[in-house]
Amino acid sequence: MDRIISLFSSSALLLFILVVQNTSSVYGNAEGDALYALKKQLKDPNNVLQSWDPTLVNPCTWYHVTCNNYNSVTRVELGNAGLSGQLVSQLGQLSNLQYLEMYGNNITGIIPNAIGNLTNLVSLDLYLNRLHGRIPTALGNLQKLRYLRLNNNILTGTIPFSLTTITTLQVLDVSSNRLRGYVPRNGSFAFFTPRSFANNPNLEFPPDAPVAPAPAPLSS
Ligand SMILES: *[C@@H]1O[C@H](CO)[C@@H](O)[C@H](O)[C@H]1NC(C)=O
Ligand SMILES: *[C@@H]1O[C@H](CO)[C@@H](O)[C@H](O)[C@H]1NC(C)=O
Ligand SMILES: *[C@@H]1O[C@H](CO)[C@@H](O)[C@H](O)[C@H]1NC(C)=O
Repeated sequence: MDRIISLFSSSALLLFILVVQNTSSVYGNAEGDALYALKKQLKDPNNVLQSWDPTLVNPCTWYHVTCNNYNSVTRVELGNAGLSGQLVSQLGQLSNLQYLEMYGNNITGIIPNAIGNLTNLVSLDLYLNRLHGRIPTALGNLQKLRYLRLNNNILTGTIPFSLTTITTLQVLDVSSNRLRGYVPRNGSFAFFTPRSFANNPNLEFPPDAPVAPAPAPLSS
């Protein structure tokens, strides 16, 4: 009898160990996994991501993360956080994300095409980093976007025409990059002044398009 009990309790112990070892997959949450994939790609000398513990039920208690009432992530706020490293395409899985604020860091690499999957995004602020490569055409899918600030990076290529179809766009800043070609002037871009595009030496306004008048010089 004792042997049976002891056999039973050791198998229970074994089962317990197996469950604990698999905690992250048992309790894992797709959005938490996506954010944890981001954490793993970032260097975080100030430990701002210390609370990002993938074994928790969801990421809603993590610092710099906000969720809606259904425990789905709506905001990631990591501006001026001293982060370096790269963005990850898993961010595209945060289907309810509205605010992605990662300005003022030292983030390198490209803007993943998968950011174009975040169709609830209202604000995409990646300015003041060291991002290179093109502005993904897929960002034109972000039809609720109001703020798009990608200024002060090392972005190259042309400005995708797809962005002109975002009718909600209120603030656009792609200044201080290495963009080239013509600035689109139709659609939502009709309202943006040259300031949004400044300091891109190879970027031109199309010759026959109206350009907002420069402010009159102050007389001395
Ligand atoms: C970026 O990294 C450099 C050193 O590589 C550091 O001097 C600078 O302060 C960092 N900038 C930000 C915004 O963290
Ligand atoms: C983005 O959406 C496409 C099409 O719905 C899908 O195939 C792809 O896996 C998504 N990417 C991410 C990173 O969620
Ligand atoms: C602006 O013009 C480009 C090129 O002709 C086109 O692809 C794009 O769809 C236009 N945007 C809008 C909002 O009509």
